[in-house]
Amino acid sequence: MVLREIFFTASSLGQDFGQLLGVQLQQMWHILGCPNPFYLVEMGAGNGELAQDLLNYFQSNAHQSFLEALQYIIIERSPNLVKQQQERLKSWLNFDRGRQGTVDLKWQSWSDINPESIEGCFFSNELVDAFPVHLVQKEGQQLKEVYLSIRDHKLTEIIDDISSENLTQYFERIGVDLSQQQYPQGYRTEVNLQALDWLETVASKLKRGYILTIDYGYSAEKYYRPSRHQGTLQCYYQHRRHNNPYANLGYQDITAHVNFTALELYGELYNLHQIGFTQQGLFLMALGLGDRLNELSSGKFSLPEIFKRRDALHQLIEPTGLGGYGVLIQVKNLTQSDSLKGFAVPDY
Ligand SMILES: C[S@@+](CC[C@H](N)C(=O)[O-])C[C@H]1O[C@@H](n2cnc3c(N)ncnc32)[C@H](O)[C@@H]1O
Repeated sequence: MVLREIFFTASSLGQDFGQLLGVQLQQMWHILGCPNPFYLVEMGAGNGELAQDLLNYFQSNAHQSFLEALQYIIIERSPNLVKQQQERLKSWLNFDRGRQGTVDLKWQSWSDINPESIEGCFFSNELVDAFPVHLVQKEGQQLKEVYLSIRDHKLTEIIDDISSENLTQYFERIGVDLSQQQYPQGYRTEVNLQALDWLETVASKLKRGYILTIDYGYSAEKYYRPSRHQGTLQCYYQHRRHNNPYANLGYQDITAHVNFTALELYGELYNLHQIGFTQQGLFLMALGLGDRLNELSSGKFSLPEIFKRRDALHQLIEPTGLGGYGVLIQVKNLTQSDSLKGFAVPDY
């Protein structure tokens, strides 16, 4: 059976998210000095909607020299999703640099990309939360790990010694000490070590430019609050959220929030410098979402269009939903201090 993977993300609400992100990515090209080639590497492209919105936006709005420079690379783990993405983006697949408005689009794996070869931006939306995490638990004064075994034909949790010293180093690096009394016995949380390996890989491929990470998550302080004693693991099955990772085995999406402090601190080890962290709502407002809301009263739209679009735009900035997602931008080998539009204080 082929599982059709369906995600609801900011791009599911229409083209605004991709178009506003496109404004930011174009500004990055200018700040980098309009390099040719200019690489945009989308990691974890879902059903390809974000790529489609970005490419459409660039084709209608970007300068010809930007389109000529643009090399769009997708890195996607799921072969099933690669097929969906290629189907959706097939009009961009027949690259012909001589034709007006065409861009170079390809699917690659990490091994296809040479070290320090990318000048441009690596970006992802809701990728890092999808990585597998280590479940850890406080037992006495010790950090233990949660494993799974089958006993009497049933999946059973086993608490044992941690599988990697990297888990201990992680808590030391982010300055969290679970042995402290304020953390109750049985305190359970997650550690996304794969996110750190991923960041190291991305940093190693970047010659000069940006890494833009959008996801739901917290700072380390908030993530590892003593009161958050069951961690952040969440499961999605048929668009319903619950917290039992052992239900619907193989059919449900399991995610954990992102610790943005860890990305920042480990990024420094990999020569990355954080230039901004904000919430998606503020980021999109700074990039022009407010103007789009104002435009709805210009008389150009029908009433049903206004309701639908207004609802979508509001969802993108809703602080308890998509608008509260974190937007982290790190740079490598960039000395220029030009500020990014997405971090400007929006005019109201
Ligand atoms: C929730 S979807 C996000 C989709 C898309 N970015 C969007 O905004 O609609 C997560 C995506 O990340 C991909 N993914 C998960 N782990 C990955 C990995 N290690 N490398 C590349 N892609 C990965 C999934 O297959 C899926 O396409």
